[in-house]
Amino acid sequence: MRRMDGADVPLLPIVLAPDPVLKARARPVRDADAETVRALLPRMFATMYRAPGIGLAAPQVSVGLRVAVVDLMEGDKPAPIALINPQVAAASAELATREEGCLSLPGHYADVTRPARVKVRYLDVYGMGQEIEAEGLLAACLQHEIDHLDGVLFVDHLSALKRNMILRRMLKERRQKETA
Ligand code: NI
Repeated sequence: MRRMDGADVPLLPIVLAPDPVLKARARPVRDADAETVRALLPRMFATMYRAPGIGLAAPQVSVGLRVAVVDLMEGDKPAPIALINPQVAAASAELATREEGCLSLPGHYADVTRPARVKVRYLDVYGMGQEIEAEGLLAACLQHEIDHLDGVLFVDHLSALKRNMILRRMLKERRQKETA
């Protein structure tokens, strides 16, 4: 069986913050995008597993479509979820705070508060409507990835002070890399 971590699949470059690509709203996937999405998904999974990360949204690989991939990597076996046009259909009033990171802000982590439980509706790779009721890490991860499709990063949930501190450090690290 062909594995989803695909050593044979070319990886995609991950866009680092700050970058206007990460602030743009992605457009919904339409029927005409089927081929694009079918080619994109294995590459997004391979890129996410290689990073490694537990979620990756299309804008992070410079694709402005409402597509995201998730795998919490909790068990021994891969549990990939491909989300097309995902949306939060319902969210609990109860909030939960957990530490988040992002492949577009490598090495930076901060506590983010979000609804503790969400119901997410999306289309799967076959174009079938699906629904997930999530809590805990999965709830946070799904909300984080859907945020990406709206041009929102986890740092946008922080105070301006904390956000600017992280973004300034990102810029500094990038300058150091460029001059190294
Ligand atoms: Ni992210």
